[in-house]
Amino acid sequence: MSSLALKGGKPIRAKEWPQWPIYGERELKAVEEVIKTRYWGGGVGVSGPKEAEFEEKFSSSHGCRYGICVTSGTAALHVALLAAGVGPGDEVIVPALTFWSTGSAVLMASAIPVIVDVNPETYCMDADAVKDAVTDKTRAIISVYNYGSSPDMDKLLKTCNEYNLVLIEDCARGHGFTWRDKPAGSIGKLGCFSFQQGKFMTAGEGGIIITNNETYADRCYAIKDCGRLREGGMPGEGIEPSTVINWYNYRMTQIQAAILLAQLERLWEQVKVRQNNQDYLNKRLREIEGIEPVKVDERLSKHHPWPYCFKYDPSYFMGLPRDKFITALRAEGIPCGKPHPPLHMALYFPKFSEAYKRYVESKANFPASEKAYNDEAVELPQHLFLGATEDIDDIAEAIIKIKRSAKDLL
Ligand SMILES: Cc1ncc(COP(=O)(O)O)c(C=O)c1O
Repeated sequence: MSSLALKGGKPIRAKEWPQWPIYGERELKAVEEVIKTRYWGGGVGVSGPKEAEFEEKFSSSHGCRYGICVTSGTAALHVALLAAGVGPGDEVIVPALTFWSTGSAVLMASAIPVIVDVNPETYCMDADAVKDAVTDKTRAIISVYNYGSSPDMDKLLKTCNEYNLVLIEDCARGHGFTWRDKPAGSIGKLGCFSFQQGKFMTAGEGGIIITNNETYADRCYAIKDCGRLREGGMPGEGIEPSTVINWYNYRMTQIQAAILLAQLERLWEQVKVRQNNQDYLNKRLREIEGIEPVKVDERLSKHHPWPYCFKYDPSYFMGLPRDKFITALRAEGIPCGKPHPPLHMALYFPKFSEAYKRYVESKANFPASEKAYNDEAVELPQHLFLGATEDIDDIAEAIIKIKRSAKDLL
């Protein structure tokens, strides 16, 4: 009989994985304290007390002077685009392989997402393709930290400087990263983070925009707080109508901010643990023919995987297709999956809109992203990387086991 768990054998991993999210007295006390103040909601006209404290601590720990809390990473991207002056007819360059919000936020700003492929080694935005995609309508680039890796930020900055474009960093998966020791979020003009349930830090939901530019900070504030000016002022006072395209209520609650203050204290130790485990798994997987971890650029000095990702080559597994491999790996007790469909498959371009026309006319194709989605990429959730190296060994051993017995699954 086959030893594979999918065929009734004993799984490699029966023990529980580290749980996510992690909480303790700090989070419980923080929530209780806010409840007792009766100041639960978002600050109106000025950041609420917990928001203000979190905005200061989070932005300064990520190399920025200003932070503006919002309700989600999607809201952060939407607000950042509007604050950068992106509007109807403008083009914004985005990677194909990302979560959909990177592209849908551009549509929410009535602008046109111009999709480029990812680099097949890093699975992050291909900086050369970005340069080729620039037109006289391009206004901004949204770069994404994905898989504990990053695009070539030096090249992206060069392109932005050359064509006067705004670099918006989508750091929904990039808390605590540094590129050449510069924190993610402070490299471009605006950095957007998510605090959704599965992210490196969470309050269930939430987001923040960070920036070193005071004008952008003021605009972000007004856009997310129904047009109110920070530190006093009503909609329409002091901001030119053409500057703020529209406003929303994207206010974060004090309860979320209080939880995030506690979560921030945990972040730096967790970055270290995950980074060590990512490096260790990369080393172990490179020893397995047919498995190749996503490449991490050496200039990315701090990084951790959200999610971890490796490339799977079925020809080394007796032709076992990737999706069957994933089913077998799950049965061995290793949570895993495949990427989200790339943007061009997932975004809804309203028919006959400029965005739709631009997409159809571009005849763009995205072979690296499609290959990752269709056949090649295998993703592992970040919380698996919070334990000991023996946990990581289980991942490698499970893959080796499936490889040895792949014929039992054909
Ligand atoms: C790369 C990326 N961008 C944006 C988002 C959107 O964040 P949120 O879910 O908080 O709206 C996510 C998260 O899901 C993401 O992974």
